[in-house]
Amino acid sequence: MSSMARFLVPPTQPTGVIDSNAPPRRTLLAGVARSLIRGTPPTNPFALVNSELSCVSARIRRAVTSEIPALTQAAMYFFQSGAEGKRIRPTICLLVSSALSASVPPADHLTTVDLRPVSAVPLEVRRRQQRIAEIAELIHVASLLHDDVIDKADTRRGKAALNHFLGNKVAILAGDFLLARASMTLASLKDSEVVALMSQVLEDLISGEILQATASSSSLTSMEHYLRKSYLKTASLLANACEAAAVVSSAGAPARQAAHDFGKNLGLAFQVGLLANPCSGPQSAFRTYGMPLANQNCS
Ligand code: FPP
Ligand code: MG
Repeated sequence: MSSMARFLVPPTQPTGVIDSNAPPRRTLLAGVARSLIRGTPPTNPFALVNSELSCVSARIRRAVTSEIPALTQAAMYFFQSGAEGKRIRPTICLLVSSALSASVPPADHLTTVDLRPVSAVPLEVRRRQQRIAEIAELIHVASLLHDDVIDKADTRRGKAALNHFLGNKVAILAGDFLLARASMTLASLKDSEVVALMSQVLEDLISGEILQATASSSSLTSMEHYLRKSYLKTASLLANACEAAAVVSSAGAPARQAAHDFGKNLGLAFQVGLLANPCSGPQSAFRTYGMPLANQNCS
C-alpha cells in the first residue's frame, strides 16, 4: 500500500468507498495535523500534494498578470519562486479534498497545470477544489499586502515588504488586484454557497484586523479575545476554504462541518502555538517545531 493510501484509509474502511455524509477520514486529518505540527514522518503532508501545488502556483502566476507591467510586477511579487512562502492554505485545501475523495491520488490529467482561462468553468471536482486552493492563497497574500501597510512592515518572507519596496499606494492596490482576480476565479465556479463561504473569509479578515487595532488593554490579556481574533485573522480562511472544498465535492452536512472544524482547529493551533508552550511538551519539540510555528504566525 502506498504511503498516501496508508495515510488515507482507516483499517476498517475498504479502499475507494466513500460515504459523502460521513466526516472526512480521520486518519488523514489527524495525520495532517500531526505532521504539520511535528513536521515529522510518517507522512509529510506537503509531499502528498507537492506536484499539484506547483500547478496551483502556476495558475496563480497566470492569474495575476495584467496589461500594465507595473501592476504585474507588484501583484507577482510574492508569487515568484523563492517568495511563495509555505503555501499552507492551498496545501490543506488539497489534502482535505483528498480526504473527501474516493480516488486518491487524483487522476494524472487532474494534476497537470490547468491551462484554461480564469473565466472557464471547471467541471471536474478536483479542478474546482484546486480553484478554491488558488483563491485561498490569493486572499491570504492580499491580506498580507494590506497588513504590511498597516504595520509599516519593512520585510516579509525574507525580502523587502512590497510597501517598503514600491510604496503604500502600490501595495494596497496590488492587494486589491489580487482580490479582484480571486473574485474572477470564484465567479468561474458558479456556486453561490462557495461564494458565500469565501466572502465570509474577507469579512472575518477585516473584522479581525479592526478588532485587534481597537482592542482595549484589558482585552489584550483575555484568552477569549485572543481566540476570537485568531479565528478571524487566521482560522476563518482555513475553515471556510476547507468547507468550500467539501461543498464542491457534494459532501453531506457532517462532512462539511468536519472539514470546517478541521480547518478552524488547525488554524487556531498554528496561531496559538499550543505545542510551543514549553510546559506542554518536551523541550526538544518546543525548540524544533513549536517556536518556528509560533513565530511564523502562519503567514
Ligand atoms: C497578519 O497579521 C495579517 C493577517 C493574518 C490578516 C490581515 C487582514 C487585513 C489587513 C484585512 C484586509 C484583508 C484583505 C483580504 C485585503 P500579523 O500582523 O499579526 O502577522 P505578521 O507578523 O505576519 O504580519
Ligand atoms: Mg503584520
